[in-house]
Amino acid sequence: MTQALDECLSPKQIRRDADSLQHWGVDWTRSFPVAPSAVVFPDSTDDVVRLVQLANREGLSLVPSGGRTGLSGGAVASDGEVVVSFDRMDRVLGFEPADRLVTCQAGVVTQALQAYAAEQGLFYPVDFASSGSSQIGGNIATNAGGIKVIRYGLTRDWVAGLRVVTGSGALIDCNHGLIKNATGYDLRHLFVGSEGTLGFIVEADIRLTTPPEPQLVMVLGVNRFRDVLAVLGCFQNALTLTAFEFFSELALQKVTAHRGLARPLAGEAPFYALLEFDESAVELAAEAFEACLAEGWVQDGVLSQSQAQAANLWQLREGISESIAGYTPYKNDLAVRISQMPDFLDEVDALVQESYPDFEVCWYGHIGDGNLHLNILKPQGLAAEAFFQRCHEISPRIFERVAFRNGSISAEHGVGLLKRDFLSYSRSSEELAVMEALKQVLDPGQIMNPGKLLRR
Ligand code: MLT
Ligand code: ZN
Repeated sequence: MTQALDECLSPKQIRRDADSLQHWGVDWTRSFPVAPSAVVFPDSTDDVVRLVQLANREGLSLVPSGGRTGLSGGAVASDGEVVVSFDRMDRVLGFEPADRLVTCQAGVVTQALQAYAAEQGLFYPVDFASSGSSQIGGNIATNAGGIKVIRYGLTRDWVAGLRVVTGSGALIDCNHGLIKNATGYDLRHLFVGSEGTLGFIVEADIRLTTPPEPQLVMVLGVNRFRDVLAVLGCFQNALTLTAFEFFSELALQKVTAHRGLARPLAGEAPFYALLEFDESAVELAAEAFEACLAEGWVQDGVLSQSQAQAANLWQLREGISESIAGYTPYKNDLAVRISQMPDFLDEVDALVQESYPDFEVCWYGHIGDGNLHLNILKPQGLAAEAFFQRCHEISPRIFERVAFRNGSISAEHGVGLLKRDFLSYSRSSEELAVMEALKQVLDPGQIMNPGKLLRR
C-alpha cells in the first residue's frame, strides 16, 4: 500500500530497508514494538501537504518524527505506519533583529538554534540534555521543558508563529510572529503539545532574548526530601534562579560511576540540589546558603569557580538519565504545584518504599518547577515484561495521589503510548471529549499519529 508514496516523493526521500525502519521508527523508549512500513523525508511544506493528501486518499497512518528523543513513545511506529522524518527540513529560514524572531523549519536541532541565536548576540533559553539531537518541531509538539523553565518557561512561551499542515491537508499560518493578537482562539497553542496528533508543524517563528550574564552553579547536600523545598523557598526569596534541580544519592552514584565524575562534596547526603544563578547574585546566594545551613536544611555545598567546573557540576544532573538507561527504567514524570510538593513527596516516597522494597528507586527532577522524575530501575535478573507488569500495578496508586492533588501524570515527557491509558488521572472526561472533538475536526481521516495521546 505504501507504493503510492512513490507517486509523491522521489526515491531518495523514501526508505524501506530494515535498518532505516528500526532507526527512524523508535524514540528513546524501548518498550514498544517497532514496525513502520516506510520512512519518508519531505524537503518542503509542499511535500508534507502532498503526503497528507495521499495518506487520506490511501488510508495511510503517519507518524511525525523529529530527533526521536521522546520518552513516552510519541514517535514510535508499531503498526505499519509511515514515519515522516524532518531531518531534511533543517534550515533556518530567516532572522528579523527588530522582532528578535528566527524563522526555522521543524527539523532544526535545538543546539543549532541556540548556536544561531548566539551568533546574533541573542539567546534561546530552552535547554535540556537532549538538545544535541532533539528538533524544534518535536520540542513544540511536546511543549518541551528542561532545565531552565524556572526562569524562562517552556517551549510554548517562545513560539511566536507556527505553520502547520493539519491532518486534513490544510496549511494554517498561526499568529504570524505577533506579540499582541486578540482575534479569537489562538490555534498556535492547540498544536503546541499536541504530540503530532492534529497535524505536522512545518515551520516556526521562535522568539529570542537577551543573553544572561555569566552563570554560577552551586550544588548543596540536603538532609531530607522536604528540605529541598525549604531550600528552594529560601533562595527564591533572595535572588532570581536560572535553575533549581534535584537528585538523590542513588542518582549521584549512578551518574558518577557512568561518567567517571568526581563526587561534588566530601560527604554523602540523601539528596542534592543544583542551583544556577547570575554571577552578580553571588553574595545573596552565599547569604541564602548560610541561612539554610543554620536551619539544618543543608549540610554542605560547593560553588563553581570556573566555567569548566560549572559544566562538570551540571553533568551530575544532566547525565543521570543516560546513566540509568541501561537499567530499563520505568519512568514517571510527575508534577504538582510547588505548595503541594512537600506532602506529595512524603506520600509518594512512602508508597514507593512499600511497593518496591526490592527495586532501586532513582529520584531526580526539576523540583523548582514542581516536576519530579521517579525512575524505578529493573533488577538485572528480572525479565522486562515481569518488571513492567509490577510497575504498572503500582502506577495507579501513584497517579491517584497525583489526581488527588490536581497534578499531572506527565509534566514534560508527554503522553504518547506510555501514559495514554492513564490520561484520565489528569484530564476530566469533559476535557477528553473536547480533545477528541478537536482531533475529529483537524484530522477527520485519523491519519495523524493514531493511538498516541488519545486512544484513536
Ligand atoms: C531529565 O530531566 O533528565 C529528562 O527529562 C530525562 C529523564 O527524565 O530521564
Ligand atoms: Zn526532565
